[in-house]
Amino acid sequence: MPKFLRSATVVCAAFVLVAAGCGAVATNLSVADGTYPRAVVAADHAIASQAGLDMLMRGGNAVDAAVATSFCLAVVRPYSCGLGGGGFMLVHIASDAPMPTQSVAITYRETAPAAVGPDYYVQLDTPGASRYGPHAVGVPGTVAGLMTALENYGTLDRATVLKPAIEAAEQGFAIDADYVASAGEVLDDIRAHPEWIDLVGADRFEWFYHRFLFDGEPKVGQTLRQPELARTLRLIARDGAPAFYAGEIGQAVAAACPQMSAEDLAQYQPRLSQPLRGTFRGRTVLAMPLPSSGGIATLETLGLVERRWMDVEQAAPQSPAYIHLVVEAMKHAFADRAEWLGDERFANVPATSLLSETYLDILARRIDPLRTQPPESYGSREGLPIDAGTSHFGVVDEWGNAVACTETINLSFGSLLPVPEYGFMLNNEMDDFLTVPGERNAFGLQQSQRNLPEGGKWPLSSMSPTIVLGEDGLVEVVVGGSGGPRIISATLQTLLDVVLHDSSAGEAVAAPRFHHQWMPDVLQFEDSWTDAATMEAMREFGHDVGRRGDVGVVQLIRRRGDGWDAASDPRKGGAPAGW
Ligand code: GLY
Repeated sequence: MPKFLRSATVVCAAFVLVAAGCGAVATNLSVADGTYPRAVVAADHAIASQAGLDMLMRGGNAVDAAVATSFCLAVVRPYSCGLGGGGFMLVHIASDAPMPTQSVAITYRETAPAAVGPDYYVQLDTPGASRYGPHAVGVPGTVAGLMTALENYGTLDRATVLKPAIEAAEQGFAIDADYVASAGEVLDDIRAHPEWIDLVGADRFEWFYHRFLFDGEPKVGQTLRQPELARTLRLIARDGAPAFYAGEIGQAVAAACPQMSAEDLAQYQPRLSQPLRGTFRGRTVLAMPLPSSGGIATLETLGLVERRWMDVEQAAPQSPAYIHLVVEAMKHAFADRAEWLGDERFANVPATSLLSETYLDILARRIDPLRTQPPESYGSREGLPIDAGTSHFGVVDEWGNAVACTETINLSFGSLLPVPEYGFMLNNEMDDFLTVPGERNAFGLQQSQRNLPEGGKWPLSSMSPTIVLGEDGLVEVVVGGSGGPRIISATLQTLLDVVLHDSSAGEAVAAPRFHHQWMPDVLQFEDSWTDAATMEAMREFGHDVGRRGDVGVVQLIRRRGDGWDAASDPRKGGAPAGW
């Protein structure tokens, strides 16, 4: 074990939660929430929310605010997202001037480099290679995605939207409890697996260990300054996306990853497409299309809950009957995720069939309101009708435009591989592919051949930025989260709390949650779930019941009265900023 790890002490900071604003919550978590008449940004760090709000207050729109928030998150949440990662942004333009009313999904997911084929990791035969070190890295998409959003839908210039991030990187900021907890977990993992350091390489690891892990002793309140990242952000402000994909930054990324060429970076393109559209209880739900599985899983689950709503209409929120219905619907959605989903540009994916009325009717009839089923009863293996380390924030501006955006470098600090001269961490998104047939990914997700790696292909994701339009066609809810497959369950549960039970934003994000991803076949309740009787009732429905620390981190904005009620999840300690 390298000397710099041997001398380090484990840091286990108590999770201190930020309390701000009001909001009565049925939980022991203290939530940061508030109601704002004009506009609001809800991110998982208060500095990033404020960066977006600064853009709104100087006349920028929701997209300007989103781009500023995202670049700022790259600075203050370097273990969750950043220039070395990718993401998904859902934009809804509500006003007719100066742009026509429209909704667009911007995909800037990392792609597999051209040199990576379906059996790349089998041939490599190196345990952990899809998770740590250079082979884990997909071609980053964040800079291209944000620049595309700004150029097509923003109104401010690059220098303006990047200014808050540059200042935060240069002047530094005090690391919070969530940062310390995440860095502490990574330190514990590395002590248990010192071989990961060999995958990363000692020099790069040492830079990462010093800069982001504070030489093994991160403490709340220490200042993180990032002069290299500030210079990188200045280059992007000056030259735009080419600074990253055709310039010195891209050269440094390619030099860090043997399987990635300058050509891979030069060819990277984000995609603009139509969001998925579904309905739920009179609303229109805009969701992310593939390669996010989140949109299909969300709409499939909502479709099933709506079809079986009569089973639980009289049941209280969070009652066993209600939880059982939501879990059974999620199990179908996750089983179909495992079997059918992948990048539809490379694999035959029956997305339309999965969301068809016929298929949802069939699945809804298979739900037993009194008993859970064996795993093979969920989703479909055949016979479909033939037709066919993450951060989330939301923005609503004073014109009613909205952005829901989720970004990631996958696990905490991504591949653990930094680009030291430019100050950022590279993703390990390649692990979201099926890297070795028969094995599950870091989130325990079972996946099909449709999600094998291939040059230029996007790995399947669970990120679920979602915008709900009310019956009047105006934005009603902006929601999404972080937490791998728990994103889908957490986003769904907070959305259901708001739409079905009229919970406030604060109540919805702070409420204790549950998770089921079909396989492993376990219904997990958060540690904060104290209602033992409900857990026992779930066992009586036949569920194998377990525990986990938390189920996702959600930021939610909802229309209420004349204002925007917004909350950042207390599980990560963010806070909204509004006007
Ligand atoms: N990297 C986690 C996801 O995209 O689902």
